[in-house]
Amino acid sequence: MSMTPDPAAPASSPGQPPRQPRTGARTLAITSGKGGVGKTFVTANLAAALAARGLKVLVLDADLGLANLDVVLNLHPKLTLHDVFTEKATLEQAILPAPGGFSVLLAGSGMVEYSRLTPEVRDKLLHIIDLVKPRFDWVLLDTGAGISDVVLYAISLATDVLVVATPEPTSLTDAYATIKVLATQQERRQVGLLVNQANRVGEGKLICGQLQQVLQRFVGQQPGQPFRLELMGEVKADPAVRQAVLKRQLVLEHYPGCDAAQAIKALAAKLLG
Ligand SMILES: Nc1ncnc2c1ncn2[C@@H]1O[C@H](COP(=O)(O)OP(=O)(O)OP(=O)(O)O)[C@@H](O)[C@H]1O
Ligand SMILES: [Mg+2]
Repeated sequence: MSMTPDPAAPASSPGQPPRQPRTGARTLAITSGKGGVGKTFVTANLAAALAARGLKVLVLDADLGLANLDVVLNLHPKLTLHDVFTEKATLEQAILPAPGGFSVLLAGSGMVEYSRLTPEVRDKLLHIIDLVKPRFDWVLLDTGAGISDVVLYAISLATDVLVVATPEPTSLTDAYATIKVLATQQERRQVGLLVNQANRVGEGKLICGQLQQVLQRFVGQQPGQPFRLELMGEVKADPAVRQAVLKRQLVLEHYPGCDAAQAIKALAAKLLG
């Protein structure tokens, strides 16, 4: 996936990517149109897969209103992004080690007041990304679902975007709406797609082709380079995922041989490839 935002763009509009420093971590926002499709599961396990390859990875819980990365990772943080925002803690204090060998900056509870995109939220998030980028190889942003200002702003802080969708028609319609906004408002020319909870092999390719076709009709009429939706992976509906989530464990650590773990490792390889 290529870096699409304009490095010179100002950080002033929720739709537009802000200035992107050219050095430091690769930043990837994991997002979706519909909620509950598997963003947090994918983010946490992808972080573990990248860390297993020797990379320094930070996951930022950018789902400010409804953060749940701490629940999935079974962490009970004393210090969170909220404490960094209110200057009660330094970034070093709030960045915690997670199972899986990566680092996390959790939003935790108490962030509801930041679920609206105020100038303060905008500046603080941008500042945090600028601070962490030089210290890591990868920064993954687990965003909220949908196309609210705050979600779009969090996405705009990343150079690459991975949209997670399941084969359900409602998820696909919402994925289409999200990708359309990313292509038009953020002027992205490439977006990655991960089809999660696929029912059969090849369903991801089929869905990606169909979405690309519909998008072409709309985004193809926009000036500039052609738009490309790239299939980054397909994760089958796998009972091991539900079991791992219920036990608050990483699939990659506890069921490393299952289909879903293999698919996440393949996603990591593709991102690095
Ligand atoms: N590949 C899969 N196979 C089976 N179940 C899955 C799979 N992926 C996700 N799930 C189930 O979907 C649930 C929701 O996943 P997750 O919390 O990662 O979604 P989310 O997109 O982050 O949700 P939210 O929008 O609320 O943040 C998981 O708890 C798990 O039970
Ligand atoms: Mg989530």
